[in-house]
Amino acid sequence: GKDKELIRNSWESLGKNKVPHGVVMFTRLFELEPGLLHLFNYKANSNSTQDCVSSPEFLDHITKVMLVIDAAVSHLDDLHSLEEFLLNLGRKHQAVGVKTQSFSLVGESLLYMLQCSLGQAYTAPLRQAWLNMYSIVVSAMSSGWTK
Ligand code: HEM
Repeated sequence: GKDKELIRNSWESLGKNKVPHGVVMFTRLFELEPGLLHLFNYKANSNSTQDCVSSPEFLDHITKVMLVIDAAVSHLDDLHSLEEFLLNLGRKHQAVGVKTQSFSLVGESLLYMLQCSLGQAYTAPLRQAWLNMYSIVVSAMSSGWTK
């Protein structure tokens, strides 16, 4: 219904420019939780956010993240079809040292990026629609964590 429409319409333009929007999102994430930078050990000799976010591997990861969001948006009618994929994706993130608790900050960073890019179009219902979709994605990923 309305939620899906809000998400699809807002993603239509954002999805055409994935990398710059992903850079805004992950730069925000590192502001909120600088410790996450170390999980991306692409630049072994550097700790600066700037060096990390400009490395090709990091931009590749951003593209991967944005493609997962893109897949979620295009599967809004059958998100459960992504469950197996997302569970395995969660498993890989546990293996690289990500904690499920960090996903709430990832969500905040996603909303921050939406707010920056949508301006006036960033409304309370739109925010809620995205949060709902994001929480489905995160809970599917989180099921890949083992104790
Ligand atoms: C892979 C870190 C969040 C999607 C990876 C890798 C690292 C990483 C270190 C392995 C290296 C690489 O492929 O570049 C993180 C951190 C996150 C985060 C620290 C935030 C706390 C996410 C989110 C998504 C995502 C939210 C999508 C919704 C992917 C994908 C891969 C990946 C698709 C490739 C997996 C594969 O090789 O099959 N991530 N990630 N990541 N990440 Fe993330």
